[in-house]
Amino acid sequence: MILVTGGGGYVGCVVVRELMQSGLDIVALDNLSQGHVEAVSSPTHLVVGDLREPGALDRLFSEFPVRAVIHMAAETEVERSLANPRQYFDVNVTGGLNLLNAMVRHGVNTIVFSSSAAVYGEPESVPIDEAHPKRPVNAYGESKLMFETILHWYGLAYGVRHVSFRYFNAAGAVDGLGESHNPETHLIPNVLRAALGHGQVAVFGTDYPTKDGSCVRDFVHVRDIARAHIAALDRIEKVVGKAYNLGTERGSSVLEVIRTAEEVTGREIPMKTGVRRAGDPAVLVASSSRVRSDLGWEPQTPDLRDIIRSAWRWLEAHPNGYRR
Ligand code: UFG
Repeated sequence: MILVTGGGGYVGCVVVRELMQSGLDIVALDNLSQGHVEAVSSPTHLVVGDLREPGALDRLFSEFPVRAVIHMAAETEVERSLANPRQYFDVNVTGGLNLLNAMVRHGVNTIVFSSSAAVYGEPESVPIDEAHPKRPVNAYGESKLMFETILHWYGLAYGVRHVSFRYFNAAGAVDGLGESHNPETHLIPNVLRAALGHGQVAVFGTDYPTKDGSCVRDFVHVRDIARAHIAALDRIEKVVGKAYNLGTERGSSVLEVIRTAEEVTGREIPMKTGVRRAGDPAVLVASSSRVRSDLGWEPQTPDLRDIIRSAWRWLEAHPNGYRR
């Protein structure tokens, strides 16, 4: 059985579905702060609980025969992490440590960790490969880097087999599972909500040193992210101790995302330009050659238009997210 922490979250629920479809039994742990009960595909066991409660973790590991963990539960908003670093270190570091300690106590020695491109900070060179210096520019990225470091030492001391995936910008949707945060801060859902008539989308900064002045990101489809986790579990001996970028190697600017969304939706998207958002690097584009060669991973939906189309399908069908 596989434990997926954050299994009700945006990426977590897709990982759960993909794992189930490959025939594995899953238990999902989620405190439902951002996750959704409705997003957890049945017959997955959902345990509502928090990583900051070691007792809850002990009960879970005693009840379910977990052999490996995919750890995705986290606080994930870059800007909030600057205003409230305590929350980020508490959940992403202390919570993660509680998880690792519970794993060690219960003899579970395999973990796939969802890390982030935010570990790199402002890139010195693009595309960013895994050897690039890690100098996070926000507490979110710092918390992810700290946990990668903790994994390294737990690997050496306690034999924990670990692999980290540094996601670039997760985007898109799969059948019935899509992005639904409250409040929504991410670009593509905000752009598409504007297309639906919910106000204007703000462009945070048009004075970056990029092709059109807006930030550039590497959008990677959630299902492609999920597939990498399954490949890592299948070939854990090969990837132990490694960190991998998950991105398409294609950079799209915020303004390009808005233009592409206009083409996909056939609607004009009202927008306004605003000031830069704190903690945002100008450009984040992955080199993903390491994961391609080690795991044979290739994004199946690398095209921004297809990614946005899948997100648009989800939003049209679920204008209120998972709420009825
Ligand atoms: N943006 C806007 N308007 C919006 C929302 C976002 O202009 O309404 C801009 C942001 O300033 C940024 C870009 O769009 O330049 C992407 O922003 P997102 O909030 O969609 O995503 P982030 O790049 O901030 O962060 C995401 C994940 C993190 C992850 C990071 C790594 O939320 O968990 O990608 O690249 F670490």
